Amino acid sequence: MEYRVFGRSGVKVSAVGMGTYYDPVWIVLSRLGILRSRRLKVQALRLGLENGINLIDTAEIYGSEPIVAEAIRGFNRDELFIATKVWPTHLKYNSVIKAARNSARRLGVRYIDLYQVHFPNRRVPITETMRAMEHLVDEGLIRFIGLSNFNLNQVIEAQRALKKYEVVSLQMPYSLIDRRIEADIIPYAKRENLAILCYYPLGHGRLIREFPRDLVEMVSRNHGPRTPAQIALNWIITKHENAFPIPRASNPMHVRENLGAVGWRLSDEEVKAIEERVKARFR
Ligand SMILES: NC(=O)c1ccc[n+]([C@@H]2O[C@H](COP(=O)([O-])OP(=O)(O)OC[C@H]3O[C@@H](n4cnc5c(N)ncnc54)[C@H](OP(=O)(O)O)[C@@H]3O)[C@@H](O)[C@H]2O)c1
Repeated sequence: MEYRVFGRSGVKVSAVGMGTYYDPVWIVLSRLGILRSRRLKVQALRLGLENGINLIDTAEIYGSEPIVAEAIRGFNRDELFIATKVWPTHLKYNSVIKAARNSARRLGVRYIDLYQVHFPNRRVPITETMRAMEHLVDEGLIRFIGLSNFNLNQVIEAQRALKKYEVVSLQMPYSLIDRRIEADIIPYAKRENLAILCYYPLGHGRLIREFPRDLVEMVSRNHGPRTPAQIALNWIITKHENAFPIPRASNPMHVRENLGAVGWRLSDEEVKAIEERVKARFR
């Protein structure tokens, strides 16, 4: 596995992580205590951990924190980088604190590595939310603060609201078929040394289903057999030193395949060819 410095945190994290958002029905059932295909999901995460992935992304809303808790059992906690998120209805001071405690309890951990605000909420002043986040860092319940789905102005505002600590990461959709953050978030993150957690790195699966065959053949000729998922993930890590794709890990076979996305690099010519072909294909 390849490890890279996770932005300002200075912590080394695997270049590819694992996501644990399953689907809306799964979330509803999880509220009723039904964790569908629990064993397979735990197995998928454990396979990634056994092979050196140490970054797992979850959220209080996903219902998957107990799955993560089960998957990390027996691994060295301090070598893992567990990221979770607080939902926008919990952004008032006391609610943030309570939500973080609940997440840590469900995850079965004494501390959360990265606590992210899942979405902004205009009804709650960001200064209030960030005050709670700083309190959680002081308490040792969270190590680092992250943001998700914030636009650039909101990121800057959140950063300004912090008095003692800094935002270390931004989580945004990013893939070969959704490159919107290249306009502003990515250049800002590079300047400010922030990590970017890329969600939907496989375009929610679409990129794999429709990936041009000739590109797979081209890359496989140069690097040995490669799959669309491996190429799509490698494109992200080749392009940006500070980007960490978090493909969903619910199927061990897919996790195994995604492990092959690291340890090699697409050439500049390949990156160019892939971008042109994908742009034409996914108009
Ligand atoms: N911050 C946010 O607001 C936000 C929003 C959405 C998602 N996220 C995070 O980002 C993660 C990834 O997003 P996502 O799961 O929606 O999209 P994704 O990773 O782009 O795509 C997931 C889909 O690709 C499939 N897949 C994964 N690896 C594959 C492979 N090697 N070959 C073929 N298919 C493969 C998955 O199937 P299987 O499940 O069967 O493997 C699933 O159907 C989430 O799990 C979550 O942690 C964050």
